[in-house]
Amino acid sequence: GRSKPMEFFNYKGVKFAKHMIFSEENLHFVENEFQVLDDDIYNVTYPKSGTTWMIEILSLICSNGDVAKAKIKTVPNYTRCPWYESTIGMKQIETLTPPRILTSHLPCHIFAKSFFTSNAKIIYTIRNPKDIIVSWYHYGKISLLLQCPEDFEEHLDCFLKGDFLYGSWFDHVWGWIQMKSSKNFFFITYEELQQDLRGSVMRICDFLGKKLDEAAIDSVLENTSFNIMKDNKMANYSYAGKSAVDLSKGSFMRKGISGDWKNQFTVAQSERFDRIYREKMKNFPVKFNWDE
Ligand code: A3P
Repeated sequence: GRSKPMEFFNYKGVKFAKHMIFSEENLHFVENEFQVLDDDIYNVTYPKSGTTWMIEILSLICSNGDVAKAKIKTVPNYTRCPWYESTIGMKQIETLTPPRILTSHLPCHIFAKSFFTSNAKIIYTIRNPKDIIVSWYHYGKISLLLQCPEDFEEHLDCFLKGDFLYGSWFDHVWGWIQMKSSKNFFFITYEELQQDLRGSVMRICDFLGKKLDEAAIDSVLENTSFNIMKDNKMANYSYAGKSAVDLSKGSFMRKGISGDWKNQFTVAQSERFDRIYREKMKNFPVKFNWDE
């Protein structure tokens, strides 16, 4: 919703909302005391980058493509693969039996310290930030936990200033990409998932050391397609009732495409974005296919 009054707090330079799912105490616990297990898999993203998609992909890969074992039709994604930085997530984690798949939007510098001395793995999904801005803008209309300006120009300004929950996208990707050569870190883009889901799933399997046969891969592809996920109550947030999103105002599974920013940005907004992007991403160690 847009008019909800919301209080924020800053935790080590990162913006969080002071409502039921975040607290400074819990973030401190997560950073300093949370015990990462060696067989944990972390699905890490900046919001609106394909988090929900990756939850489904990982649920299925880890269950050898078996829909029942993956619980994708029986357990909501946020319970299956909880956001470990939230207070609700912390409670949900207690119900999991390892190996765990956990989700997080945390930037690298406040991620659980115990990860960095563990054998746990991170899959980090990056998406074209222009599409993130648009996806977030629409999500702002249905989310009950987020605040988002109604005016797109203002929303864009906030993004460029880093005045978003979980902080600046630029800081997020710069922080995580430092892990690029770690054997426990794998990054992929939303656009790669779009262009070649089979190849992407196979690369993720390799990283995780999972060997899936052709039929298992087919099941992963089928069940993680946009159209199937859109109708899956355990993936589309309809099961969450009115605690997270108001689905009478729009759907969480909105378009599921790349390049929708072209339908939203004006030429001037795009040029302004590109100027700042070029400046902030200068010398970024990876080139994306949306970079010129
Ligand atoms: P759009 O708003 O552009 O449609 P997150 O899960 O990180 O919040 O990201 C949500 C975005 O991922 C939404 O983008 C949503 O439609 C898209 N998405 C979710 N599942 C998808 C799938 N199976 N294929 C493609 N896009 C998907």
